[in-house]
Amino acid sequence: MDKTMNFEYFLPTRIVFGVGTVNKVGKLARNLGKKAMIVTGRSSAKKTGLLDEVISILEKSGIESVVFDDIVPNPLSSTVDKGAEIANREKCDMVIGLGGGSPIDSAKLIAVVAKDGGRCWEYTGSGGGRVPKAALPIIAIPTTHGTGTESDPFAVVTNSETNEKIGVGFDQTFPVISVVDPEVMKTLPPYQTAATGMDAFYHAIESYINTNHQPTSDLLAMEAMALINHYLPIAYTDGNNIEARTALAWASTAAGICETLSGCIANHSLEHPISAHYDATHGAGLCATGPAFFDYIRPHTKERLARVAQIMGAPESVIDINRLSEMSIELIHRLQKSVEIDITLKELGVERSMLGRLAEDAMRTMGGLVEVTPGDLKTEDLKKILEMSY
Ligand SMILES: [Fe+2]
Repeated sequence: MDKTMNFEYFLPTRIVFGVGTVNKVGKLARNLGKKAMIVTGRSSAKKTGLLDEVISILEKSGIESVVFDDIVPNPLSSTVDKGAEIANREKCDMVIGLGGGSPIDSAKLIAVVAKDGGRCWEYTGSGGGRVPKAALPIIAIPTTHGTGTESDPFAVVTNSETNEKIGVGFDQTFPVISVVDPEVMKTLPPYQTAATGMDAFYHAIESYINTNHQPTSDLLAMEAMALINHYLPIAYTDGNNIEARTALAWASTAAGICETLSGCIANHSLEHPISAHYDATHGAGLCATGPAFFDYIRPHTKERLARVAQIMGAPESVIDINRLSEMSIELIHRLQKSVEIDITLKELGVERSMLGRLAEDAMRTMGGLVEVTPGDLKTEDLKKILEMSY
């Protein structure tokens, strides 16, 4: 127990969790208006038939839909602006994000720009830091188990002109309703299963190590790490295993709550410039730097990393804190290997000559997360971690 403890708990999202819950979205959305914009990607929700299903479920509750399917991975602020314009033109009362993190994050920002005006980039730290007074109601229907965006206020957006990828979050960007249905995650292919599952793992461990950790997020982070460690390899080899998908959906939602209550640390700062410059998958980028990152800050957080090792199956006979903290890094590698995502920055296509620039970008665009990282890291430290990850 820490000697001093200060925290806030604010999570204004109705989370409706469980197999089959997607069928409830019409009834749940009824009070929010008559017309919804559904924000989704170009293919997956269409291919699986989920988009049509959601449209018909809404229709049965008297809600008309407009589909905005321009969203690509690492979504652009210009796409958000276009979506907001259409939402206003079509007089949409609510915005539904259907898909992975990119469509849901885009839905959050479309809801802001449509209601509060201006342009998307103005709301980022780099674009002026505008704070919205209001947003259209947001509904999240995640089809991946990783981003945690269903239970946090955050949205990540990229500026294609500057290659900056920044996370923003406001009280107005919490989803009003999140429908987390593990059934719709069964079609997630193995690579996305691994990448999004590891994203959730890093949300949990980073929140747990965050200098602002607090009791609720600690409990949820431990739960999420244990579940992902056990079930991610199962879902990776057997996507239809509903027990594994349910465990991972809950782990993702729990880790999203951890992001809300405590938040990620500098491993996420390091990842954003990587995927902004190289269009890498977010979860893969986190796996490239994660083990070196935690090894680098290990001297400053040995007890907590020792606990992580215990959660991830370190033998009970090992009781030395230093050894256990070392084992946490080995166990993260083991988990990543088990789902074939234990990669290096080089394998992600990053050029060695770019490491300095990436470290500077991480500090400039996501320095807030560096501040809550144990060890008082400077840009030089970030560069060293990137070198260790190469
Ligand atoms: Fe993430």
